Amino acid sequence: MSKSAKLAVLGSINADHILNLAHFPRPGETVTGEQYTVAFGGKGANQAVAAGRAGAEIAFIACLGDDAIGERILDQLAQDKIDTASVETVRGEPTGVALIFVNAEGENSIGICAGANAALTPACVARHQQVITEASALLMQLESPLESILAAARIARAHQTQVILNPAPATPLDDALLSLVDIITPNETEAESLTGIAVNSDDDAARAAGILHAKGIKTVLITLGRRGVWLSEQGKGERIAGFSVKAVDTIAAGDTFNGAFITARLEGKSLQDAARFAHAAAAIAVTRPGAQASVPWRTEIDDFLLQQS
Ligand code: RIB
Repeated sequence: MSKSAKLAVLGSINADHILNLAHFPRPGETVTGEQYTVAFGGKGANQAVAAGRAGAEIAFIACLGDDAIGERILDQLAQDKIDTASVETVRGEPTGVALIFVNAEGENSIGICAGANAALTPACVARHQQVITEASALLMQLESPLESILAAARIARAHQTQVILNPAPATPLDDALLSLVDIITPNETEAESLTGIAVNSDDDAARAAGILHAKGIKTVLITLGRRGVWLSEQGKGERIAGFSVKAVDTIAAGDTFNGAFITARLEGKSLQDAARFAHAAAAIAVTRPGAQASVPWRTEIDDFLLQQS
Protein backbone atom coordinates (compact mmCIF):
# COMPACT_ATOMS: atom_id res chain seq x y z
CA MET A 1 0.00 0.00 0.00
CA SER A 2 1.30 3.52 -0.77
CA LYS A 3 2.49 5.97 1.90
CA SER A 4 -0.72 7.87 1.35
CA ALA A 5 -2.86 5.19 3.01
CA LYS A 6 -0.80 4.28 6.06
CA LEU A 7 -1.47 5.47 9.60
CA ALA A 8 0.94 5.53 12.55
CA VAL A 9 -0.51 5.91 16.05
CA LEU A 10 1.80 6.78 18.95
CA GLY A 11 0.36 6.62 22.44
CA SER A 12 -0.61 4.92 25.67
CA ILE A 13 -1.85 1.49 26.64
CA ASN A 14 -3.78 1.07 29.90
CA ALA A 15 -5.61 -1.62 31.79
CA ASP A 16 -8.89 0.11 32.69
CA HIS A 17 -10.43 -0.76 36.07
CA ILE A 18 -14.02 0.40 35.66
CA LEU A 19 -16.46 0.75 38.55
CA ASN A 20 -20.08 1.61 37.77
CA LEU A 21 -21.84 3.37 40.64
CA ALA A 22 -24.87 5.55 41.25
CA HIS A 23 -22.83 8.73 41.80
CA PHE A 24 -19.18 9.75 42.10
CA PRO A 25 -17.86 9.49 45.68
CA ARG A 26 -17.33 12.88 47.36
CA PRO A 27 -14.12 13.40 49.41
CA GLY A 28 -14.33 11.15 52.47
CA GLU A 29 -17.29 9.16 51.07
CA THR A 30 -17.38 5.46 50.16
CA VAL A 31 -19.86 4.37 47.50
CA THR A 32 -20.59 0.69 46.79
CA GLY A 33 -20.36 0.00 43.08
CA GLU A 34 -22.85 -1.93 40.98
CA GLN A 35 -20.38 -3.49 38.57
CA TYR A 36 -16.59 -3.81 38.30
CA THR A 37 -14.79 -4.65 35.05
CA VAL A 38 -11.15 -4.79 33.95
CA ALA A 39 -10.93 -3.84 30.27
CA PHE A 40 -8.33 -2.82 27.70
CA GLY A 41 -7.93 0.95 27.27
CA GLY A 42 -5.49 3.84 27.07
CA LYS A 43 -6.10 6.73 24.68
CA GLY A 44 -3.42 5.56 22.25
CA ALA A 45 -4.60 1.96 22.14
CA ASN A 46 -8.27 2.99 21.92
CA GLN A 47 -7.55 5.25 18.94
CA ALA A 48 -5.43 2.57 17.27
CA VAL A 49 -8.23 0.03 17.74
CA ALA A 50 -10.83 2.50 16.44
CA ALA A 51 -8.75 3.10 13.30
CA GLY A 52 -8.02 -0.61 12.83
CA ARG A 53 -11.68 -1.63 13.16
CA ALA A 54 -12.72 1.23 10.85
CA GLY A 55 -10.42 -0.17 8.17
CA ALA A 56 -7.11 1.74 8.38
CA GLU A 57 -3.74 0.14 7.66
CA ILE A 58 -2.14 0.98 10.95
CA ALA A 59 1.05 0.54 12.98
CA PHE A 60 1.17 1.38 16.69
CA ILE A 61 4.16 2.76 18.64
CA ALA A 62 3.63 2.12 22.36
CA CYS A 63 4.97 0.46 25.50
CA LEU A 64 3.37 -2.07 27.81
CA GLY A 65 4.49 -3.93 30.93
CA ASP A 66 5.95 -7.43 31.19
CA ASP A 67 2.84 -8.64 33.01
CA ALA A 68 -0.03 -10.99 32.15
CA ILE A 69 -2.42 -8.24 31.11
CA GLY A 70 0.26 -6.76 28.83
CA GLU A 71 0.46 -10.09 26.98
CA ARG A 72 -3.30 -10.27 26.59
CA ILE A 73 -3.49 -6.68 25.34
CA LEU A 74 -0.80 -7.36 22.72
CA ASP A 75 -2.77 -10.37 21.41
CA GLN A 76 -5.95 -8.30 21.23
CA LEU A 77 -4.24 -5.46 19.32
CA ALA A 78 -3.09 -7.95 16.69
CA GLN A 79 -6.66 -9.30 16.40
CA ASP A 80 -7.76 -5.71 15.79
CA LYS A 81 -5.63 -5.60 12.60
CA ILE A 82 -2.87 -3.47 14.14
CA ASP A 83 0.82 -3.91 13.28
CA THR A 84 2.33 -4.31 16.77
CA ALA A 85 6.01 -4.66 15.75
CA SER A 86 6.66 -1.27 17.40
CA VAL A 87 4.91 -2.07 20.68
CA GLU A 88 7.72 -2.64 23.20
CA THR A 89 7.39 -4.78 26.33
CA VAL A 90 9.26 -2.99 29.13
CA ARG A 91 10.99 -5.31 31.61
CA GLY A 92 10.25 -4.67 35.27
CA GLU A 93 7.41 -2.21 34.61
CA PRO A 94 3.66 -2.78 34.96
CA THR A 95 1.27 -1.97 32.13
CA GLY A 96 -0.32 1.48 32.55
CA VAL A 97 -3.46 1.62 34.65
CA ALA A 98 -6.61 3.77 34.58
CA LEU A 99 -9.05 3.81 37.51
CA ILE A 100 -12.44 4.84 36.13
CA PHE A 101 -15.69 5.66 37.91
CA VAL A 102 -18.82 5.69 35.72
CA ASN A 103 -21.95 7.24 37.26
CA ALA A 104 -25.61 6.55 36.50
CA GLU A 105 -25.63 9.26 33.82
CA GLY A 106 -22.81 7.49 31.95
CA GLU A 107 -20.30 10.22 32.82
CA ASN A 108 -16.81 9.18 33.89
CA SER A 109 -14.00 10.34 36.13
CA ILE A 110 -10.52 8.90 35.47
CA GLY A 111 -7.19 8.68 37.33
CA ILE A 112 -4.19 7.14 35.55
CA CYS A 113 -0.78 5.71 36.44
CA ALA A 114 1.65 5.75 33.50
CA GLY A 115 3.57 2.53 34.31
CA ALA A 116 5.28 1.31 31.13
CA ASN A 117 3.87 4.27 29.14
CA ALA A 118 6.61 6.42 30.73
CA ALA A 119 9.17 4.31 28.84
CA LEU A 120 7.95 5.69 25.51
CA THR A 121 10.95 8.05 25.47
CA PRO A 122 12.47 9.99 22.55
CA ALA A 123 14.98 7.11 22.23
CA CYS A 124 12.06 4.69 21.87
CA VAL A 125 10.52 6.97 19.22
CA ALA A 126 13.86 7.02 17.37
CA ARG A 127 13.98 3.20 17.34
CA HIS A 128 10.66 3.16 15.49
CA GLN A 129 10.97 6.28 13.38
CA GLN A 130 10.57 4.33 10.14
CA VAL A 131 6.94 3.69 11.10
CA ILE A 132 6.43 7.47 11.15
CA THR A 133 8.39 8.25 7.99
CA GLU A 134 6.52 5.59 5.99
CA ALA A 135 3.10 6.72 7.17
CA SER A 136 0.93 9.37 5.63
CA ALA A 137 -0.43 10.44 9.01
CA LEU A 138 0.69 10.27 12.63
CA LEU A 139 -2.00 10.35 15.34
CA MET A 140 -0.98 11.15 18.95
CA GLN A 141 -2.55 12.05 22.31
CA LEU A 142 -1.09 13.34 25.60
CA GLU A 143 -0.73 10.23 27.79
CA SER A 144 2.88 9.82 26.60
CA PRO A 145 5.95 11.90 27.60
CA LEU A 146 5.68 15.34 25.96
CA GLU A 147 9.31 15.32 24.76
CA SER A 148 8.56 12.09 22.85
CA ILE A 149 5.47 13.59 21.24
CA LEU A 150 7.59 16.56 20.14
CA ALA A 151 10.33 14.23 18.79
CA ALA A 152 7.76 12.23 16.82
CA ALA A 153 6.14 15.39 15.43
CA ARG A 154 9.54 16.64 14.24
CA ILE A 155 10.25 13.35 12.45
CA ALA A 156 6.80 13.48 10.87
CA ARG A 157 7.17 17.07 9.68
CA ALA A 158 10.58 16.30 8.15
CA HIS A 159 9.05 13.45 6.13
CA GLN A 160 5.75 15.02 5.01
CA THR A 161 3.74 12.85 7.40
CA GLN A 162 0.64 14.73 8.55
CA VAL A 163 0.47 15.26 12.34
CA ILE A 164 -2.89 14.85 14.11
CA LEU A 165 -2.90 15.68 17.81
CA ASN A 166 -5.75 14.82 20.15
CA PRO A 167 -4.66 17.01 23.10
CA ALA A 168 -6.16 14.75 25.78
CA PRO A 169 -5.98 14.78 28.72
CA ALA A 170 -5.80 18.60 28.98
CA THR A 171 -2.15 19.64 29.36
CA PRO A 172 -0.39 22.97 28.71
CA LEU A 173 1.53 22.73 25.41
CA ASP A 174 4.43 24.74 23.97
CA ASP A 175 3.98 26.60 20.70
CA ALA A 176 6.99 24.60 19.41
CA LEU A 177 4.81 21.48 19.42
CA LEU A 178 1.61 23.17 18.26
CA SER A 179 3.41 24.68 15.25
CA LEU A 180 4.14 21.12 14.02
CA VAL A 181 0.50 20.01 14.22
CA ASP A 182 -1.65 19.86 11.06
CA ILE A 183 -4.95 18.82 12.67
CA ILE A 184 -5.88 19.27 16.34
CA THR A 185 -8.95 17.71 18.00
CA PRO A 186 -9.56 19.09 21.53
CA ASN A 187 -12.83 18.78 23.40
CA GLU A 188 -14.28 21.90 25.03
CA THR A 189 -12.20 21.54 28.22
CA GLU A 190 -8.99 20.94 26.31
CA ALA A 191 -9.72 23.84 23.95
CA GLU A 192 -10.14 26.12 26.97
CA SER A 193 -6.89 24.88 28.49
CA LEU A 194 -5.03 25.60 25.23
CA THR A 195 -6.63 28.95 24.39
CA GLY A 196 -8.08 30.41 27.61
CA ILE A 197 -11.52 30.58 25.97
CA ALA A 198 -14.40 28.80 27.70
CA VAL A 199 -16.23 27.08 24.84
CA ASN A 200 -19.98 27.42 25.50
CA SER A 201 -21.22 28.37 22.03
CA ASP A 202 -20.30 28.20 18.34
CA ASP A 203 -18.89 31.74 18.57
CA ASP A 204 -16.62 30.66 21.43
CA ALA A 205 -15.51 27.65 19.41
CA ALA A 206 -14.73 29.88 16.42
CA ARG A 207 -12.62 32.19 18.62
CA ALA A 208 -10.76 29.27 20.21
CA ALA A 209 -10.14 27.79 16.76
CA GLY A 210 -8.78 31.16 15.60
CA ILE A 211 -6.19 31.11 18.37
CA LEU A 212 -5.11 27.59 17.43
CA HIS A 213 -4.90 28.56 13.74
CA ALA A 214 -2.64 31.48 14.73
CA LYS A 215 -0.23 28.94 16.23
CA GLY A 216 0.18 27.35 12.81
CA ILE A 217 -2.50 24.62 12.89
CA LYS A 218 -4.42 24.38 9.62
CA THR A 219 -7.40 22.30 10.75
CA VAL A 220 -9.14 22.52 14.11
CA LEU A 221 -11.93 20.20 15.29
CA ILE A 222 -13.39 21.06 18.69
CA THR A 223 -15.65 18.25 19.85
CA LEU A 224 -18.75 19.60 21.60
CA GLY A 225 -20.33 16.49 23.15
CA ARG A 226 -23.99 16.14 22.16
CA ARG A 227 -23.75 19.30 20.00
CA GLY A 228 -21.34 17.70 17.53
CA VAL A 229 -18.03 19.20 16.43
CA TRP A 230 -16.80 22.65 15.42
CA LEU A 231 -14.78 22.14 12.24
CA SER A 232 -12.56 25.02 11.21
CA GLU A 233 -10.17 25.06 8.30
CA GLN A 234 -7.85 28.04 8.04
CA GLY A 235 -10.38 30.17 9.90
CA LYS A 236 -13.51 29.11 8.03
CA GLY A 237 -15.69 27.21 10.50
CA GLU A 238 -18.98 25.32 10.73
CA ARG A 239 -20.64 23.05 13.27
CA ILE A 240 -21.29 19.48 12.19
CA ALA A 241 -24.05 17.94 14.32
CA GLY A 242 -23.65 14.47 15.82
CA PHE A 243 -26.20 11.68 16.16
CA SER A 244 -28.59 11.41 19.07
CA VAL A 245 -28.37 8.05 20.90
CA LYS A 246 -28.92 6.79 24.44
CA ALA A 247 -25.47 6.75 26.08
CA VAL A 248 -24.47 3.93 28.44
CA ASP A 249 -21.01 5.36 29.02
CA THR A 250 -18.82 7.82 27.16
CA ILE A 251 -15.47 6.10 27.83
CA ALA A 252 -13.42 6.18 24.60
CA ALA A 253 -16.05 8.13 22.65
CA GLY A 254 -13.45 10.80 21.83
CA ASP A 255 -10.88 8.12 21.02
CA THR A 256 -13.31 6.40 18.66
CA PHE A 257 -14.05 9.74 16.98
CA ASN A 258 -10.34 10.38 16.41
CA GLY A 259 -9.49 6.92 15.08
CA ALA A 260 -12.48 6.87 12.74
CA PHE A 261 -11.96 10.46 11.58
CA ILE A 262 -8.38 9.95 10.44
CA THR A 263 -9.27 6.63 8.81
CA ALA A 264 -11.92 8.37 6.74
CA ARG A 265 -9.51 11.18 5.81
CA LEU A 266 -6.91 8.64 4.65
CA GLU A 267 -9.60 7.16 2.40
CA GLY A 268 -9.99 10.57 0.78
CA LYS A 269 -13.27 11.63 2.42
CA SER A 270 -13.83 15.39 2.81
CA LEU A 271 -13.40 16.89 6.29
CA GLN A 272 -17.19 17.12 6.62
CA ASP A 273 -17.83 13.52 5.56
CA ALA A 274 -14.99 12.28 7.76
CA ALA A 275 -16.52 14.14 10.73
CA ARG A 276 -19.91 12.54 10.02
CA PHE A 277 -18.31 9.08 9.76
CA ALA A 278 -16.48 9.71 13.05
CA HIS A 279 -19.70 10.91 14.72
CA ALA A 280 -21.37 7.64 13.68
CA ALA A 281 -18.53 5.55 15.13
CA ALA A 282 -18.59 7.52 18.40
CA ALA A 283 -22.41 7.32 18.60
CA ILE A 284 -22.21 3.52 18.44
CA ALA A 285 -19.40 3.46 21.04
CA VAL A 286 -21.39 5.38 23.66
CA THR A 287 -24.25 2.87 23.46
CA ARG A 288 -21.88 0.15 24.75
CA PRO A 289 -19.90 -0.13 27.99
CA GLY A 290 -16.11 0.10 28.28
CA ALA A 291 -13.27 1.44 26.14
CA GLN A 292 -12.07 -0.88 23.38
CA ALA A 293 -15.01 -3.22 23.92
CA SER A 294 -17.29 -0.40 22.76
CA VAL A 295 -15.41 0.46 19.54
CA PRO A 296 -17.37 -0.49 16.39
CA TRP A 297 -16.16 -2.33 13.30
CA ARG A 298 -16.44 -0.78 9.83
CA THR A 299 -19.57 -2.70 8.83
CA GLU A 300 -21.35 -1.41 11.92
CA ILE A 301 -20.44 2.20 11.11
CA ASP A 302 -21.54 1.84 7.48
CA ASP A 303 -24.85 0.22 8.57
CA PHE A 304 -25.47 2.98 11.12
CA LEU A 305 -24.93 5.67 8.48
CA LEU A 306 -27.22 3.87 6.03
CA GLN A 307 -29.98 3.86 8.65
CA GLN A 308 -29.62 7.63 9.07
CA SER A 309 -30.01 8.46 5.38
O1 RIB B 1 -10.10 8.03 26.68
C1 RIB B 1 -10.44 6.94 27.49
C2 RIB B 1 -9.20 6.36 28.11
O2 RIB B 1 -8.64 7.29 28.98
C3 RIB B 1 -9.46 5.14 28.95
O3 RIB B 1 -9.42 3.94 28.20
C4 RIB B 1 -8.38 5.21 30.01
O4 RIB B 1 -7.38 4.26 29.84
C5 RIB B 1 -7.82 6.63 29.90
O5 RIB B 1 -6.57 6.63 29.38
